Amino acid sequence: MGSARFASRISGIGSHFPSRKVTNLDLAQMYPSLETSDEWIRERTGISERRIAVPGKLEDRNSSLACQAALRALEMAGKKASDLDQILVATCTPDTLIPSTACWLQQKLGATRAWTMDINAACSGFVYALATADQFIQNGQIKTSLVVGSDVLSAFTNWDDRSSCILFGDGAGAVIVEQTAADSPQRLLSHHLHSDGSLWDLFHIEAGGSNLPGNPDVYAGKLDKMQMKGREIFKSAVRTLADYAVMALEENGLSVSDLDWFVPHQANLRIIEAVAKRLGFPMSKVLLNIDRFGNTSSATIPTALDEAVRDHRVKPGQLVLLDAFGAGLTTGSLLLRWG
Ligand code: UT7
Repeated sequence: MGSARFASRISGIGSHFPSRKVTNLDLAQMYPSLETSDEWIRERTGISERRIAVPGKLEDRNSSLACQAALRALEMAGKKASDLDQILVATCTPDTLIPSTACWLQQKLGATRAWTMDINAACSGFVYALATADQFIQNGQIKTSLVVGSDVLSAFTNWDDRSSCILFGDGAGAVIVEQTAADSPQRLLSHHLHSDGSLWDLFHIEAGGSNLPGNPDVYAGKLDKMQMKGREIFKSAVRTLADYAVMALEENGLSVSDLDWFVPHQANLRIIEAVAKRLGFPMSKVLLNIDRFGNTSSATIPTALDEAVRDHRVKPGQLVLLDAFGAGLTTGSLLLRWG
């Protein structure tokens, strides 16, 4: 990235969640056949509660959550929707297949100058989208991008599957990315992305795409819902998150002790603890919101970061590492100096 004409910096960040809170106890009571408990969910995942969209509620649509998060990010950046050159929405749960969620969001924001697209890299989507925005900014094609990670996984959750339904929640996180000088001390430093499509069957949704559109058999068999091989994903996640964290640091001639904050994808607290242990990184410097929001897919990283920026834990100039994995399988890390 040394030869680029420009660099990118994040100038604003924001989050939004549906208002409906569902605790572990609520889940256990709503779905008694799960035979689950608050204790099991907290011990095995670190999750206490999550926000779940109300089906049919306009404010809880993916693009509506994204819009509220984006407005907060714009406000922090001191920008208007009309200043945006580009809108990228990382999502695997779009409002509609056509048009993209990014187009719905553009319309809601009135961001008439922007060009827009969705990026589907499942839970790694925010890192992929931020890396994409960075490329357009680095080569001078655009100056200001809105990057959103927004997902409504509850629409694709099988509430009969106790090993997966307890994990997920809905939400959106957004950042404004702006052009800065290539040698600015506060900028995105690097990104490393990788996918392995051969591992598709660890986490997928069989139906609902062009292979198998929805039909009564699909709905009866819940083939339009997420299917997950939890233990296999767990192992793969620990390995790839640790590898991509090290890769990001090594590329920049930095070590784990230089890092101020680690912002991993929030899928299971035990995965995050295992990665921190492998890296020799203290949990006190890991940004977490999984306890209150569960796994919100592409929204976990920007929402956890937003919270820590707004309560002044994350300060200008600090070194922050974003690290994600998701269905695909996809993985990616992105190192930045905040501010
Ligand atoms: O964004 C990426 C998405 N997904 C992930 O990252 C998932 C990664 N994997 C995980 O988070 C964990 O593997 C799970 C939370 C899914 C499962 O935890 P685990 O510690 O790997 O449990 P397990 O699958 O090995 O199951 C242990 C036991 C089983 O019972 P038996 O066979 O030992 O009698 C399960 O049936 O726990 C049982 N179990 C539950 N019990 C109560 C599974 N889910 C539940 C539940 N409540 N919700």
